[in-house]
Amino acid sequence: VTGSAATGPAWGDLVLDGLALEALPDLCRGRRTAIITDARVRALHGGRLPDGGVLIVEDGEACKTLDVAGRVHCGLARLGMDRGSLVLGVGGGAVCDLAGFVAATYMRGVALGLVPTTLLAQLDAAIGGKNAVDAGGAKNLVGTFHRPEFVLRDASVLSTLGAAQIRCGLAEAVKAAAVGDAALLGRIEARADALLAGDAAELALVANAAAAVKIAIVDRDERESGERRILNFGHTFGHAVELAAGLSHGEAVSVGMALAAELSVRRGLLDRTDASRLACALERLGLPLRARCDVPAAVRALGRDKKRDGDRISLVLLEGIGRARVVPVPIGGIEEVLHDLR
Ligand SMILES: NC(=O)c1ccc[n+]([C@@H]2O[C@H](COP(=O)([O-])OP(=O)(O)OC[C@H]3O[C@@H](n4cnc5c(N)ncnc54)[C@H](O)[C@@H]3O)[C@@H](O)[C@H]2O)c1
Ligand SMILES: [Zn+2]
Repeated sequence: VTGSAATGPAWGDLVLDGLALEALPDLCRGRRTAIITDARVRALHGGRLPDGGVLIVEDGEACKTLDVAGRVHCGLARLGMDRGSLVLGVGGGAVCDLAGFVAATYMRGVALGLVPTTLLAQLDAAIGGKNAVDAGGAKNLVGTFHRPEFVLRDASVLSTLGAAQIRCGLAEAVKAAAVGDAALLGRIEARADALLAGDAAELALVANAAAAVKIAIVDRDERESGERRILNFGHTFGHAVELAAGLSHGEAVSVGMALAAELSVRRGLLDRTDASRLACALERLGLPLRARCDVPAAVRALGRDKKRDGDRISLVLLEGIGRARVVPVPIGGIEEVLHDLR
């Protein structure tokens, strides 16, 4: 695949696997480079990063604000970064999002390199060119599309992740399997123990396969005009229960996938055996299938969803493991599933 004239090289060519952090000096190729990372990632892996200016930002979601972005813009100016410089984001999905946003806006856009260091960032957040910060209480309210020049995935950094972080990444890997790669679900089922124990080789294989699903989809639909929406499988329900039930993102997506699979069965799209298989795989990973949540509050949250159209909401439903489709569903049907699967 060679990508398109409008968007440059194919994503598969931007994502570099099998390279270690030690390849970064070469990739930065003598350009002035500023590393954006957080204190924890720097403490754990900073010794393996190239020399250059380092801008430390808040941990996790707290770095995705316009204030932090503004501070980083000023930091880049202080470091003397110009149009030919490189911004290198090293960290979880939040740092990757912030670095992408800052690189897209500093001097109307400078080169970006990403080094995702969580499983979720390696298989999802660092791929696809979308980046955003939160504002006014809304997640990802202000953002851009900005392609990195490269995404370097070094599985060895995953060895310092905690169990909850791994589980959250695995929830997204199951999502990728559910919408695009049935064989990947088989692999996750077969190797669940090794994956949960943080086995780097197993995690790398799963990250590769899950990322490949996203790469194939964004290469066909980078601007999310159609197919890319199937990557939201489990997320519309998930976001509704994430706040209402106080779950982590991965747990919420797990509940969301279970709900969406059940709805797929009830609408005659999916075999009950496939829905059960998906649910078993999630349980095997220690992920929840149900959330104790206030149904009216969750329905209100769904009603505010961007995918709403009158009394219908577009949801990603499954036709089989590895096959997904966007279907407008009446809110009543959604409410019923939320009720039954509390
Ligand atoms: N742009 C996209 O397409 C896209 C897609 C999915 C998710 N996201 C975003 O990604 C974010 C979530 O990313 P996340 O799950 O990576 O969490 P995160 O970035 O919010 O937090 C990661 C945490 O893990 C720590 N950490 C990072 N690497 C580590 C390592 N190797 N060992 C130990 N600790 C490490 C960090 O210090 C931080 O505390 C959300 O903001 C979400 O919106 C974006
Ligand atoms: Zn997600």
